This record gives sequence, structure tokens and C-alpha cells, in this order.
Amino acid sequence: MIKIVFATNNAHKIAEVKAVLGEGYELVTLKEVGITEDIPETGATLDENASLKARYVYNRTGLDCFADDTGLEVEALNGAPGVHSARYATDGHDFKANNRKLLNELQGADNRRARFRTVISLIRGGVEQHVEGIVEGTIAREESGAEGFGYDPLFIPTGHDRSFAEMSAEEKNAISHRGRAVAKLATILQK
Ligand code: IMP
Repeated sequence: MIKIVFATNNAHKIAEVKAVLGEGYELVTLKEVGITEDIPETGATLDENASLKARYVYNRTGLDCFADDTGLEVEALNGAPGVHSARYATDGHDFKANNRKLLNELQGADNRRARFRTVISLIRGGVEQHVEGIVEGTIAREESGAEGFGYDPLFIPTGHDRSFAEMSAEEKNAISHRGRAVAKLATILQK
């Protein structure tokens, strides 16, 4: 059994990562290691933020850990909201407001290409390494579906005609940014 701290309190993320990793892992949450405060995410890039979170946990606990940071990068918006995806419209994680703002920003835009990018920082035995997962797609003209979280109701992965929010967890995990990054993480952890 590989025991590792996942530096998040997002229940959706924990469920997704558990499903991709499968048997053989004991995922420990921040709450379970006594970290209840918000970890500062002040980096200018996804890599920096993933590092900040993982190093914070490692410095506090000395345990093997990993942290992820994800951004939605929209081509017509020069890569925005990117590293600011969580706080795009407001100071909090207001998914509805973020989706409304994204639709407004893209009003009339024909180029709706976008991608989700996840960076995972893994610290194992005190050594840090990063893996990345990307899924390409487009931003729909209206929200659809009730599964998932965040920008899922607006994101239609390339080769599909439904949003992530219209897919089962298994379908999303098989092709998603986080699913791909976690699959690479699993390969490293098995070594
Ligand atoms: P985080 O910093 O990794 O928590 O991600 C930043 C923001 O990106 C989140 O608050 C969500 O709005 C969005 N996000 C991250 N992962 C996903 C996903 O799998 N689907 C939809 N939105 C996501």
C-alpha cells in the first residue's frame, strides 16, 4: 500500500484521483494531516502553484505528498483564465459566476478552442518532480450537464459532442487533464 498525502480539500478532485489511481494507494487528505488553513496559491504559473502547495505540505508533515494545479486556457483569451481559473469572476470559487464570465468574454467569438492543463508536483523522499496532463477541446455557447465541477458544463473535449458535465466520472477520467496527469503520477509511484 502506497501512502501519500494529496494536498487538496476538494472532494471532487479526491474522488477523481482515487478512481484513476485504483487499488494499492492510501490517499491522505489535508484535513487528516491537520492542515485546515488555505495554502497560499500566489504563483504566476500552474507549476509554481503546484510546487507551493506540495512544499507547504512536505514542510509541515515530512510525508510524501503531491499537489495539483489546473487551469483552463482559452485561445481567444490569450490563455486566460489560466492560473486564475478558480478566481476568474470573484474572489471565491464561484463556479456559476466563472462560467457566466467566460461566456460573456467569448460572446460572438468563433474561435472557441481551449484546453485544460493540470500540473502535479510530487514530493517523494524529499525529491520533487512534476508531471502534466492536457485535454484539448472547445467552449460551448451554453452550459449543459450536471456532473463534475467548475468549467465542466462548458467544456467539450475534442472528438466528443457532450460536455464534461454530461459525462460519467469514468468517461471524464479516461480523457481528462487530471486523469492523464494522475496516470503519469501512478507510473512514477510504481517505480
Ligand atoms: P485548482 O487550482 O487546481 O483547484 O483549479 C482551479 C480552477 O480550475 C477550479 O476552481 C475550477 O474552476 C477549475 N477546474 C479545475 N479542474 C477542473 C475540472 O476538472 N473541470 C472543470 N473545472 C476545473
